[in-house]
Amino acid sequence: MKILLIGSGAREHAIAETLKKSKGTLLYSYLKSKNPGIISLSNGFEIGNYADLNKIKSYTQKIKPGFTFVGPEEPLNNGVTDLFKKLKIDVIGPTKSLARLETSKSFTRNLLRKHKIEGNPRFEIFNKKNISEAKNFIDDLRQCVIKPDGLTGGKGVKVQGDHFKTKKEAFAYCNEVLQTHPFVIIEEKLEGEEFSLQCLTDGKIVVATPPVQDHKRAFVGDKGPNTGGMGSYSCENHLLPFLAKKDVEEGSKITQKVAEALHKETGQYYKGIMYAGFIKTKNGIKLLEYNARFGDPEAMNVLPLMETDFVDVCNAIINQELHKLKIKFQNKATVCKYLVPNGYPNNPAKNEKIIVEKIPENVKIYYASIEQRDNVLYTTNSRTIACLGIAGNLEKAERIAEEATKSIKGKLFHRKDIGTKEVIEKRVNHMKKILK
Ligand code: GLY
Repeated sequence: MKILLIGSGAREHAIAETLKKSKGTLLYSYLKSKNPGIISLSNGFEIGNYADLNKIKSYTQKIKPGFTFVGPEEPLNNGVTDLFKKLKIDVIGPTKSLARLETSKSFTRNLLRKHKIEGNPRFEIFNKKNISEAKNFIDDLRQCVIKPDGLTGGKGVKVQGDHFKTKKEAFAYCNEVLQTHPFVIIEEKLEGEEFSLQCLTDGKIVVATPPVQDHKRAFVGDKGPNTGGMGSYSCENHLLPFLAKKDVEEGSKITQKVAEALHKETGQYYKGIMYAGFIKTKNGIKLLEYNARFGDPEAMNVLPLMETDFVDVCNAIINQELHKLKIKFQNKATVCKYLVPNGYPNNPAKNEKIIVEKIPENVKIYYASIEQRDNVLYTTNSRTIACLGIAGNLEKAERIAEEATKSIKGKLFHRKDIGTKEVIEKRVNHMKKILK
């Protein structure tokens, strides 16, 4: 089976590795940068940008894959799935219209509202014409979150208390957003613990993978600016220390209803990954946002645990036969820690040499934004390498991941606290306080 993978990050490295586990996979990759991990697993590759649909088309016609797998959101937003459909090639990843689940926050909030799906916080959407009415809405909320409507690389969302203090500043940011985006979404700020629930879907049913908790802030103790995610963990019981089975079921139910609503709304079936960023609050599970792809780092927590053949899973998604497959994951805990360039995310040390020494056998490493030139690895301006520990419990998985970081030398840093007992206790106590 020839498979074409689009994407060049650590998430795609994990996808490539999992697809290659299936006997007979011939993997071809279309990458934005020369990721040595993906290239080493590929039978052929092409470098190009995600907006160059002509280049993607030529490469696809040359390879003639059985199906394609789209890793990141950017090519989805550019309509790469629509292109593959025209070429009559099956694809894991939603069309541009369905990818609005991620690319338009107003679309998703309105979808849940229209179809009476629980999970929305209080919210309103404003444009340049009615922005003056936003003041009253902001005044009505205890604290708010301001979200631009569109892809912002995780950098556009601003939270009261974290990124700005006063309601006046909130209103000013709304006006700033409207200079570059058609809509701005104002939401009530929710208190709780966040988790990622990545579901596989054939458009009819959704199948949840184990929940994961990501760490967005750059520095130890959840300090510093927001990043793409500095690391994440999952537990051997496929829950999280602050999350019960019923919470995961509540989240899956929301995503199931959203998949059905998407079909009603567009007439198309969503085939791919629906990744919900949820928050457990005093009033149940609430939706922060959807992504139309696997999470990065969260893909690295779930894919290595998948016991079911991933190519079979992809075929079941394509043929809408997910209901016939029992998708299994190992009962193991995982901890993923990202090494990132010094100065990341605001002023990353680019073009710095990295040396990967002998990695212990029980560790997996995934290459992210890294360039290989003349057999030397260099940092770029984003996350560099992820170290993944897998073990019977979190404590052991954390130790494995932490040890592995010592084998990678360069002007890099990571969060030593991810997956540690202290941080887990902090999360559990926070949740207890909220539920009181
Ligand atoms: N870990 C956050 C994301 O993938 O968007």
